Amino acid sequence: MKSHLDKTLEKRLYECGQEHLLHALEDLTEEEKIRFSEELCALDFDLFKRAKHFEEKNYENLAPIPIFHARRAEEEKDELEKIGLRAIAEGKVGAVLLCGGQGTRLGYPHAKGMFNIGLTKEIPIFSLHFGYLREVAKRAGAWFPIYIMTSIYNRKEIEDFLKEHSFFGYEPSAVRFFNQNMAPATDFDGKIYQSSPSSLVLSPDGNGGWFSSLVSEGYLDEIKKNGLMWLNVVAIDNVLQKTADPRFIGAVIRENSACGAKVVKKATPDERIGLICRNDSHPAVIEYFELDRLKKEKAVSTHEMEYGVILNYLFRVDEMEKTLSVKLPVHKARKKIPYYRDGDYIKPETENGFKYEMLATDLVERMDSCLAYEIAREWEFAPVKNRTGIDSVESARAMLLALGYEL
Ligand code: UTP
Repeated sequence: MKSHLDKTLEKRLYECGQEHLLHALEDLTEEEKIRFSEELCALDFDLFKRAKHFEEKNYENLAPIPIFHARRAEEEKDELEKIGLRAIAEGKVGAVLLCGGQGTRLGYPHAKGMFNIGLTKEIPIFSLHFGYLREVAKRAGAWFPIYIMTSIYNRKEIEDFLKEHSFFGYEPSAVRFFNQNMAPATDFDGKIYQSSPSSLVLSPDGNGGWFSSLVSEGYLDEIKKNGLMWLNVVAIDNVLQKTADPRFIGAVIRENSACGAKVVKKATPDERIGLICRNDSHPAVIEYFELDRLKKEKAVSTHEMEYGVILNYLFRVDEMEKTLSVKLPVHKARKKIPYYRDGDYIKPETENGFKYEMLATDLVERMDSCLAYEIAREWEFAPVKNRTGIDSVESARAMLLALGYEL
């Protein structure tokens, strides 16, 4: 006879078109069955509905957003840096390094921060980040807190790596780690993949859940107790990333914005970065893959909207708290997903399904205002997504060399 759990699960799997997983359960030992059922029960099936809902989303009133130009930041640098450094010194600013991604395009089997960008010597990407963070801490005279978001897959190796390297000279007690949530991966028909006879393929659920993960790991109390008002959230894969940049922080604080985003002028109209703009009265970021759909459907004019985000945002903590009650949209990202089926473990050569991700860009839309702060690409934007070509190890090394780094 079936237990209540079995029946509820069976109903849920049928409703969500995942009945193939019921067949998988049939051949398992009792112990495996219990474990697998628990994994299935813990799944957030709402994710798929939110992904569908997002695909139907439309942007009715897109318009350009005012840009805080790099020239202006340069002219006002003394005042802006003073404001920024004071906020850091007073303990109002923390950094969040997003390290939970799997770097599938790079095809590197470890966390991207550990990747050696050096040519003749070891220069892990982490060392470049910590080098800049250390410099800012020195100027401000304060070891400001750094929260590192990891996934269940890379948490241990990142912690071990940073400890082995003594946090590249940063004060260890100012560094915290937290794990992000996981989501199932599916084939193109939405059927969840298995990673073994009794487990699912789970992958990190995107960089948009960073604040809720920080909160679920219990850090909000500490943040409030310490009077942290701003969090600077950045991608780890930009080797020129300037985190806790006093000038940027000063500009966002002085302009009284709910958040700030570092932006660059798009290099080409089809550069694969999210476009910053306004949607009705709110700031918004439209991902490049969304833009293609919008252009096709509505002939959206984007010629005046030529600035893209580089995944370096400064958010007010109290504004972020308001987002906790909101479910963020879910994006479907096409990826190569290794999976188990009928006794075989398959490593696909081409994309074979979707990972389900929430994106930090969607948090910008939840804010009342956003300062779009222009940066000079050659100084601050060298993302490492691929091995060669655009946004690659190759292009990042070339940019570092052009700036005089010894690699
Ligand atoms: P990307 O979205 O480019 O993903 O990450 P990725 O994992 O590095 O690479 P691909 O797409 O699999 O090739 C941008 C930033 O967001 C972080 C990444 O670590 C990187 O710093 N990220 C991404 C997370 O922290 N969690 C995620 O679930 C996804």
